[in-house]
Amino acid sequence: MSNKITIHETAFVTAAFRAGDTGISKDHYAHLWANESIEEHAVRYSSTVSAYEPYAHCLRNRYFYDTLVDLIDHDEVEVLINFGCGFSMYPYLLNKDLIYIEIDKLDVITHKHQKITEWQEQGLLPYREVHYIAADFNMPSMEDLYHQIVPLKENKRSFILLEGVLFFLGKEDTNRLFNLFERLQGPDEYLASVSFQPQLEKSKVFHKLIEFVESNLEKNQQFQYQTVKDGYYKNRRGYKLIDHQDTFSLSAYYDPGRVLPNEEVLNEHMYLLKRNK
Ligand SMILES: C[S@@+](CC[C@H](N)C(=O)[O-])C[C@H]1O[C@@H](n2cnc3c(N)ncnc32)[C@H](O)[C@@H]1O
Repeated sequence: MSNKITIHETAFVTAAFRAGDTGISKDHYAHLWANESIEEHAVRYSSTVSAYEPYAHCLRNRYFYDTLVDLIDHDEVEVLINFGCGFSMYPYLLNKDLIYIEIDKLDVITHKHQKITEWQEQGLLPYREVHYIAADFNMPSMEDLYHQIVPLKENKRSFILLEGVLFFLGKEDTNRLFNLFERLQGPDEYLASVSFQPQLEKSKVFHKLIEFVESNLEKNQQFQYQTVKDGYYKNRRGYKLIDHQDTFSLSAYYDPGRVLPNEEVLNEHMYLLKRNK
């Protein structure tokens, strides 16, 4: 990787964070993505922006992991569709009977598919049925993506995950994605999303993030440091918000003894919605 990283390379950094504390993240395969240059970027990012970023990413993975395990145990989910999947490893941590659809930019998908195939051949990863789709959420139409997903999903009960992606997208791209989710999902299906709240924009730690991004990330035109109001989820047509967590609530749950300094945490919010009947 060059000194500046592209948006899709942020997926390597997230994987490095998850590998840091597998007791919390439960991602026992994240370490497979590690290399020296990724480690360097991850250390540079957490030492410049917030030392709590690796921990926050472990908590986020754990929350979705536990949520999925519970729903799968209750036969409520048959397909996991991960939009902007990066190098997250849910398929290998979860039930082999699920259908997994992984969507990201072409570079991520090509690299992920190739490495996963290699690791499966070497016996480092269990086999899973994963369908890879390359897509760019900045494209003006989601029609092509819709037609690629429908035959894979069929009428099965889905869980759509949008984790660590919205910060990189604009409002219009976001609205197009949520319209696509609504078209894809039937009654009682699940939609999970992660974003920052607009209130965070005033904080010092968010300013550090902006400074870091300005000098370390190759941005694109759509990039505008997106934050999202709770109302975007609460008032979502066709859905009901059934759970809302943030870094602090997850930390209190998974690591109750730990004290987090408010002003140093880039607090992320996790929303879980269920499609109406
Ligand atoms: C910070 S990573 C998070 C990856 C993964 N969801 C996770 O939590 O580990 C952001 C991901 O969003 C993807 N992404 C960002 N903008 C995108 C776009 N316009 N189209 C498709 N994927 C995009 C990136 O390629 C990258 O894999």
